[in-house]
Amino acid sequence: ERELVVPAKGLVVLVGVSGSGKSTFAARNFAPTQVVGSDSCRGMVSDDENDQSATADAFGLLHHLVDTRLRRGLLTVVDATNVDSSARKRLLRIAADNDLPAVAVVLDPPEQLVRDRGAARADRALPDSALSRQYRQMRNGLEGEGFHEIHVLRDPQEIDSVVVRTRP
Ligand code: CTP
Ligand code: MG
Repeated sequence: ERELVVPAKGLVVLVGVSGSGKSTFAARNFAPTQVVGSDSCRGMVSDDENDQSATADAFGLLHHLVDTRLRRGLLTVVDATNVDSSARKRLLRIAADNDLPAVAVVLDPPEQLVRDRGAARADRALPDSALSRQYRQMRNGLEGEGFHEIHVLRDPQEIDSVVVRTRP
């Protein structure tokens, strides 16, 4: 079984298209308070996790929460697609400003599985074109951006069974 080691004090940036399983992975491997998610932040500033007009405010809150938690030395997991390098750079800057490492966990299960899950999902209807755009953005690698480590998980069984450990 695969072990995934992350810093006990630091930032874990999940990266994956909508439906790749980020929220499921975060809930299985981390305490709820360790996970800062774009959807829950959107909900907190709009009463509707799908209200796209709240996106800027939601990310303002997300970045504030991440910064506050890292300043307090708490392991923090960002549950957002983070397929866009500018989104990752913002998070990397917050970690660096707090002198803490950031690691990326890329969830990239087979595209057909992701599309099938999306079609079966009741809580969200993402247009095919939006998912395709996310996949195009995903093609840009994360190398050289400043992550201390980049873990890429592609096998759905591995994503479901990986064991996360913290390194002091
Ligand atoms: N899912 C599943 N088996 C898994 C992981 C996810 O069946 N091992 C299902 C979930 O139940 C959900 C869908 O796939 O219905 C998407 O998973 P989710 O964790 O919500 O994906 P996210 O990456 O968080 O998607 P989003 O960016 O839209 O929040
Ligand atoms: Mg999610």
